[in-house]
Amino acid sequence: MRFVDKIVLIVGGNSGIGLAAAIGFAREGATVIITGRDQVTLDKAIHDIGAAAAFRADVADTESMVPVVEEIRRMHGRIDVLFVNAGVGAFAPVREVTRELWDHIHDINLRGCFFAVQKALPLMGRGSSIVVTGSIGSLAGVPGNAIYAASKAGLRAIVRILATELVAEGIRVNMVSPGPTETPLIRRNVGMDESAVESLRQVMISVVPMKRMGEPEEIARPVLFLASDEASFITGVDLFVDGGCLEL
Ligand SMILES: NC(=O)c1ccc[n+]([C@@H]2O[C@H](COP(=O)([O-])OP(=O)(O)OC[C@H]3O[C@@H](n4cnc5c(N)ncnc54)[C@H](OP(=O)(O)O)[C@@H]3O)[C@@H](O)[C@H]2O)c1
Repeated sequence: MRFVDKIVLIVGGNSGIGLAAAIGFAREGATVIITGRDQVTLDKAIHDIGAAAAFRADVADTESMVPVVEEIRRMHGRIDVLFVNAGVGAFAPVREVTRELWDHIHDINLRGCFFAVQKALPLMGRGSSIVVTGSIGSLAGVPGNAIYAASKAGLRAIVRILATELVAEGIRVNMVSPGPTETPLIRRNVGMDESAVESLRQVMISVVPMKRMGEPEEIARPVLFLASDEASFITGVDLFVDGGCLEL
């Protein structure tokens, strides 16, 4: 019960890794507030998590988090844990990358996540912590992954900078970078049909030393650790949770 009396905001908490983390935080006593774009899964997640509230907010709109944070200020007065997890993917070889696809991914993964942190910060004080979802894709040389990889590499740089900016205020900032994980994300990759998705899945499994995809709960557990007081002397890290992909 590491999160009793804690107010936890999860940006992208209605699916996959974010949903698994939301369930984990709630089980350990947190008051959980989630955001996402899809009203149907937001409504379902409130029920599954026992979340205090769910807000529809698209981080591509950098002002979308303002009313969310204002409502949390009114209801709870503070945020103890901010988990910025929203993200989308797309595979495209360099010759097929369009400006629209580039902007779509970066507006969410990089700019959107940065401004979500900025909007939440006024409610965060000493002892609070921020966890951001990166990806091992930011370091791995995966063909066709340039746009996504660049967005996550940028986010990793931001995490390091924010950790240094906020350390004197007693706010820790860390990243969890998953390897291939069984979530709806691959199926939602822009421009991929079902057979392309399945071949990508098989390729991903083949490159994981553990020869399997991770489960969302296996990513959520390290997120909870880094968010908790157990990690009180840890800030600025990028923790790879990837079945050994980058390590072995
Ligand atoms: N699955 C993997 O293999 C893998 C590997 C490395 C990193 N990651 C990262 O893990 C994070 C979670 O992804 P996942 O695998 O759990 O996939 P997912 O099930 O598709 O979840 C993505 C989450 O992000 C939210 N989101 C996406 N765009 C958003 C936007 N514009 N505004 C607000 N919320 C938005 C989604 O909400 P809606 O459903 O409402 O859009 C959903 O809650 C992402 O950052 C992803 O890049 C995943």
